[in-house]
Amino acid sequence: MPTPYLDPVLVEKTSGIGAKLRLALASAAYETIGNDLVAMVVNDVLATGAQPIAFLDYVACGRLDVPLVVSIVRGIAAACGQAGCALLGGETAEMPALFAPGAYDLAGYAVGVVEHGHELRSELAAGDVIVALPASGLHCAGFELAEAAMGRAGVTAADRVPFGAAGRTFGDELLAPAAVYVQQVLPLVYAGSVKQAVHVTNGGLLRNVQKLELADGLQAELLATAWPLPELYAWLATHGGCTDAEILGTFNCGLGMLLVFGKDDASWQKLPQAVRVGEIRAVKAGAAAATVRHFSDELQRIGALTFPGAASAKRLPAAEKPTVSTVADFLPLIDPLITPTHSAGVYRTAGGKRALRLFPDGRRTHTDPILVIGTDGIGSKILIAKRTQQFGSIGVDLVAMCVNDILCNGADALTFLDYYACGAGVAPATSADILAGVVHGVQQSEAALVDGQTVELPGLYADGEFDLAGFALGVVEHAAILPRSADVRAGDVVIGLPSNGVHSNGFSLVHRVMQVAGKTFADGPAPFSATGRTYGEELLEPTQIYTAAVKPLLRDGRIRAIAHITGGGLLENIPRVLDERLGVELDFAHINIQPVFAWLAQQGNVADVEMQRTYNCGIGLVLVVAPGDAAGVSEALTAHGGAVIGRVFERSEADAAAERPQVRIDALQFAQSMQRVQRTLGQPRRRVGVLISGNGSNLQALIDASRDSRRGLAAEIVCVLSNRPEAYGLQRARAAGIATHVLGHREFETREAFDEAMSERLAEHGVEIVCLAGFMRILSPAFVKRWHGRLLNIHPSLLPAFPGLHAQRQAVQAGAAVSGCTVHFVDEGVDTGRVILQREVRLAGAGETEETLSTKILVAEHFAYAEALRLVATGAVRL
Ligand code: GRF
Repeated sequence: MPTPYLDPVLVEKTSGIGAKLRLALASAAYETIGNDLVAMVVNDVLATGAQPIAFLDYVACGRLDVPLVVSIVRGIAAACGQAGCALLGGETAEMPALFAPGAYDLAGYAVGVVEHGHELRSELAAGDVIVALPASGLHCAGFELAEAAMGRAGVTAADRVPFGAAGRTFGDELLAPAAVYVQQVLPLVYAGSVKQAVHVTNGGLLRNVQKLELADGLQAELLATAWPLPELYAWLATHGGCTDAEILGTFNCGLGMLLVFGKDDASWQKLPQAVRVGEIRAVKAGAAAATVRHFSDELQRIGALTFPGAASAKRLPAAEKPTVSTVADFLPLIDPLITPTHSAGVYRTAGGKRALRLFPDGRRTHTDPILVIGTDGIGSKILIAKRTQQFGSIGVDLVAMCVNDILCNGADALTFLDYYACGAGVAPATSADILAGVVHGVQQSEAALVDGQTVELPGLYADGEFDLAGFALGVVEHAAILPRSADVRAGDVVIGLPSNGVHSNGFSLVHRVMQVAGKTFADGPAPFSATGRTYGEELLEPTQIYTAAVKPLLRDGRIRAIAHITGGGLLENIPRVLDERLGVELDFAHINIQPVFAWLAQQGNVADVEMQRTYNCGIGLVLVVAPGDAAGVSEALTAHGGAVIGRVFERSEADAAAERPQVRIDALQFAQSMQRVQRTLGQPRRRVGVLISGNGSNLQALIDASRDSRRGLAAEIVCVLSNRPEAYGLQRARAAGIATHVLGHREFETREAFDEAMSERLAEHGVEIVCLAGFMRILSPAFVKRWHGRLLNIHPSLLPAFPGLHAQRQAVQAGAAVSGCTVHFVDEGVDTGRVILQREVRLAGAGETEETLSTKILVAEHFAYAEALRLVATGAVRL
């Protein structure tokens, strides 16, 4: 066995168990379900030559029946044990809005590893031997057809089968757990004797034999006389009205795994139950790559033997044939979409399976790489996509939910797989839209979409219904695994990254609130929208993927813990990365409770603590760092809206004894912040005029933020005034459709007259708040007085340090270690008004110039100015 793996290749697979699920649920064969979820994926992984090492399950249901799920997990655990594969976890989602009580869907995921160069993809030659391992039953293929056949024959699962061992029912026959081949096959794989392998699954025996990689002029020939064809197939032909071609193209026909050995290699004979079923033959060029000879004869022979007098296989009239899958129409669309996501290490193994070479060029990038895997779904957010027929963004949610989770372990996402199950009547265009979202999410995660399963399950999903599950895999250096909970101590700083809104949890409550409010998703404008969008459009805002923000920080050891705020909200997700003796205190004076949360709380009459326990309330990711690293880390996250939001404290014994929550949020402070946002809902937004003289990048930041519902600015820019006609900011304003006015100051006799003209213009637009953004004129006392408490300026230093002109140059010349920006109310002095918000920027030392510092400060300004305007416009800060 090639351990340790020096050049590991990862092979992943996700799958459900298809229509077998419905029958298994109806027959209470729960352990079989668990077993089969594992069998489907580990056998597939094994067929590439990889050793399955870890498994995850995804369970979605309408109402969670704990003993039932426990039985399923028992089946999973037993099969994982058989496969020597670790059951690492899973996701169980209760989604009453999507599934009826008693309805379930499940997906399994396995990852395996094989040493590079040892994948099963040897060139096959004439004379090579094809060996099969017997199937234990239908496994998970062909249940739609089997059930249709039973219907035609008028039998049910409870009826006795008219063949084989006495007392067996059709249910027993169909629900036999699928065989797991790992332990039998791996030793031969390691010995190097297996040349190629195929897991016989969906598509039946014939199409799976075709997966062998063969040069033209070679054919894989199976002889149906070589193995005992189970009587069930003869019954399906004689009684169930299935044609031989249907049987061969749908069922495994008794063979679960095919292995190819060299002509003179007898090692396969050590495999218990292995049967030689055929060989690789030389044929003329262009001949079929695979054939199963004597299949019809054999089917008839067994039929005649078992059911004397019964009619043999007949052709079905076209209308009775199994339905043609719309999924088939969709599959060809997939490849061109997902290939662009493939990073250097992705390639195809034999049988077309994609694999990932962990170290793409063979050079180790990690000394002790640890793989991290995660699975999730997006719950009843899906329902909004369906109701509004907007499917483009939920794929991003699916990726985000998985990838953000593995980021919390410090891992870089490498690959993603999706499981997509639907009922009949889901248009290929819908599936393509969903997948386009997945691709977009995968690209944002800097990962590769390596595989997925798309299945149509009309028996489980009503027409047009579907569910999605995602699986992500990432890698982290052993020494860098997060959380480092033991390193977190009292006094550590908590940094928050803003969310995109509700993200992908708590939608059951959203649906209830929508009902109470009497709104549909098509209604609009939503009172929490900054741009007049509908409820549906706002609520579908995709979950933020934090890769770009966090990945650059993962290597340097400054991050001690990361929590992804998902189901369980702020209150339950943060403690997961904390030692019990510590707590976190969040300062809600400055946290932006996004308007959507304020609306949900207001309409649904949801208590504040419930909001905190259900939603991210505006903070999607929480990072913990040492106090000395706080400034550097929050500066690195400025462009992503990162800010200090709290502190770690030591819990007293009394806290622990009284079971006081580990996350402490001042109730009054939270309530006041919440009410302030609620007061803005559905109200006219504060009208803002901006004064500029130049480039206007701060103006742009204000425009963008005011049109972004998440920022909760409660303000709109209604006019832009410039004293210089050539100011580039004027073009920005015009492009944004905002009124502009140029007032040349030289045309006025006095400063006061000029200022008075500006005030008039501002008043004409009903301006309530004035923002100076690079406006290069001193304002008269009269103007300042008129706009008292409503006049804001931004200055590129941490006031009171470096006031006046060339603040950045002053900071560099003074050799300052830290500078930054200040948003302040304007008073009659120069840069002396009351500070609203400051943001630090550190100087790099000798290399720092006025230009480099100015660039860094501008990034901070763009975030800080909008944030300060929010505080003033919502009334959180006043003079
Ligand atoms: C900024 O540095 C700001 O601090 C100062 O003027 C500059 C304006 O830049 N008051 P821009 O015009 O917003 O790009």
